[in-house]
Amino acid sequence: MIVAIDGPAGSGKSTVAEGVARRRGYQLVDTGAMYRAVAFEALRRDVDLEDGAAVAELARQLDFEFRFDGDDNVVFCNGVRLDEQIRRNEVSRAASIVSAHPSVRKVLVQTQRGVGENRSSVLEGRDIGTVVFPDADVKVFITATPEERARRRAAQLREQGEEVRFEEVLSEIEQRDRRDTERETAPLKKADDAVEIVTDDMTVQEVIGRVDELVEKSVEKSDSGE
Ligand code: DC
Repeated sequence: MIVAIDGPAGSGKSTVAEGVARRRGYQLVDTGAMYRAVAFEALRRDVDLEDGAAVAELARQLDFEFRFDGDDNVVFCNGVRLDEQIRRNEVSRAASIVSAHPSVRKVLVQTQRGVGENRSSVLEGRDIGTVVFPDADVKVFITATPEERARRRAAQLREQGEEVRFEEVLSEIEQRDRRDTERETAPLKKADDAVEIVTDDMTVQEVIGRVDELVEKSVEKSDSGE
């Protein structure tokens, strides 16, 4: 069973994807964390972020594993656990730049298919339902207004001890939205057959419940051999 969850930054899709994966006992593949890990490594090794070929070569050297550890879904990159170091604003900016390179996307899409192929998985990202798994069993597009998303992101960053101004976070989100939706390769876009959920006035549990219903229906359908 492959559950594809796409949507913009701060839409709540990560929390929802995690809730659904836990309820179902599925693996949770956070593809944004993979782009962040590549960006983080590029910054660390002083690889030019604008040099698509160099960043793709770096991405090819990285392997990924996802595991639940208590409250967290943890990503291991070449065996090294990555936590809040890939959530910093500097890495968010760098991830947005590296993810615009077609060569980098090509490498990571292959890696994502490999990670998702062997187990029932929830994959969350921007292009899961359109590019990575166009035949996913369930496709959901989760979104919220930019202001609501900025409020959530600012709260999250403050919780992690980062000092941020709301206007700055909002403007970052709007810029990233533009880059993510306007780029030529795999722009952020709802798949035609994805179910769209706007989460501004919904609780996280409501959204998880809604997605879980869709998964349940799909499981029943495949059990009955349809
Ligand atoms: O979801 P996130 O904020 O952790 O994603 C980090 C960056 O990676 C963001 O700029 C969008 C990009 N990304 C992408 O292009 N494709 C994906 N499947 C996941 C993330």
